[in-house]
Amino acid sequence: PRRAIIVVAAGSGTRLAAGAPKAFVGLGAHTILRHALDGVFHAPEAQVVVVAPADRVGEAETDARLAAGDRSDLVTVVAGGATRQQSVAAGLAALWGDVEVVLVHDAARALTPPEVFARVFAAVDETGWGIVPVLPVIDTIKRVDGPHITGGVDRAELAAAQTPQGFRRDILTQAYALADRDHTDDAAVVAQAGHQVGVVDGDAASFKITTPEDLARAEHLLRGAPG
Ligand code: C5P
Repeated sequence: PRRAIIVVAAGSGTRLAAGAPKAFVGLGAHTILRHALDGVFHAPEAQVVVVAPADRVGEAETDARLAAGDRSDLVTVVAGGATRQQSVAAGLAALWGDVEVVLVHDAARALTPPEVFARVFAAVDETGWGIVPVLPVIDTIKRVDGPHITGGVDRAELAAAQTPQGFRRDILTQAYALADRDHTDDAAVVAQAGHQVGVVDGDAASFKITTPEDLARAEHLLRGAPG
């Protein structure tokens, strides 16, 4: 296919402290990874590259096959690296030759609605830019230095970045080859390489499961109760 979705699931999940790498922690009847992939397989058709911890590749293959159903020929599972950026690079190396547009998605954003993937693909196709789904910032944000507030930031100028973030494959590959330090998202890698990055609407359900409270919120949403 022309499209690919890289799902990074190689993090350790230290802050979740659930005794397994985060993507393999249970959420309802399945793992966090399986829920994330259920969303991915309801998105527009794409090669799906799952990046798993080296010792969980087999488990990730099982989850991916179950989520993919009759589309399991689209799945590739590879081992990740020590940082998110290294894990994305491992995913990029596994892309098929015909792929032109790539989305990079955190497995930890397990409940991301399929429409968000479609929205990001459409915006990349339309603009050729890197595209980031964002939400407005709700809190008032302060700049701090130790115990002191040193300034404020106008929150109208801010947005909270989510995934899936989408890019033209040639731009993302080139930006990763140039990256000389670690960034926390792919948009930062692409912006540092001098490319334009734009936004589309994110979704509250795309929150990243990081803490035990986040996991409880995801469980709650899965049971159909308001978040
Ligand atoms: O740690 P954090 O929640 O910010 O990680 C975001 C996503 O990146 C998660 O889905 C995690 O599994 C993934 N990740 C990875 N390889 C790493 C670190 C994080 O694939 N070394």
